[in-house]
Amino acid sequence: MDRLERALEKSRRQRAALTPHPAESAESACAATDFTVDPMHGTLMESNRIVAHRARSAEADVYRQLRTQVLQIMNQSGFKALAITSPHYGDGKTTVALNLGISIALDLKQSVLLVDLDLRKPDLHRYLGVTPQVGLTDYLLNDTPLHDCLMRPPFERVSVLPAGSVMDRSSELLGAPKMIALAREMKARYPDRLVIYDMPPVLTQDDPIAFLPQIDAVLVVVRDGVTRQDDLKRCLTALAGANVIGTALNDCG
Ligand SMILES: Nc1ncnc2c1ncn2[C@@H]1O[C@H](COP(=O)(O)OP(=O)(O)OP(=O)(O)O)[C@@H](O)[C@H]1O
Ligand SMILES: [Mg+2]
Repeated sequence: MDRLERALEKSRRQRAALTPHPAESAESACAATDFTVDPMHGTLMESNRIVAHRARSAEADVYRQLRTQVLQIMNQSGFKALAITSPHYGDGKTTVALNLGISIALDLKQSVLLVDLDLRKPDLHRYLGVTPQVGLTDYLLNDTPLHDCLMRPPFERVSVLPAGSVMDRSSELLGAPKMIALAREMKARYPDRLVIYDMPPVLTQDDPIAFLPQIDAVLVVVRDGVTRQDDLKRCLTALAGANVIGTALNDCG
């Protein structure tokens, strides 16, 4: 596959009810914190466009298509770490990362660890409706144990490593030996697990480029009607040293 063009399509059908599942399995060796599952989470996740778990839904089907294409490439190539990025802020990276991660984990053979690497403007936890006390930056800077930082949302086989305390000099941290060691460990820990990194945008921060050596593959999110062609070209040029497995066109309303 060269590109995942038009991976996200028009999707305006009525949403099916959220059906949270108890958390389980892959991260069970860690004392990851389970989210409290209450109706508020469902409403919040719905309003944050988390749709991939729905049983009968055009939106969820689009993410299943994206999942299948991504998994084929990742599995064929033995890739374990996927970065989701885009040219600019607001293109839909976090939305795609979350939905893709949930969709991949619905495939019974896979588990997923979602890592918020947008250390200056973390959103993963917010979209899931939780406010974690600690996260990745606390592990890296304050020696907070990793298992205290991990969380499990109400989706089977999905774990989340939130960003933690907001960091301004984030690219330095992403290149630090402790982060590199963690990235390697997360990739190697479970053979059936993919690590999905929710990254900042390529054209406004150097973090994605700084972290490229730890990444097996990159999916570039493009926002329909917003992303300019020359910005996409500049983004792909900046990612020239990476395995860009495709683009996901978001928000084709
Ligand atoms: N397909 C879509 N249709 C409508 N709204 C969308 C869609 N995808 C994302 N959004 C909304 O657009 C906003 C930005 O999305 P998101 O946070 O996923 O982008 P991002 O690229 O991660 O942004 P940032 O660079 O700030 O981290 C959010 O309010 C999100 O709910
Ligand atoms: Mg984001």
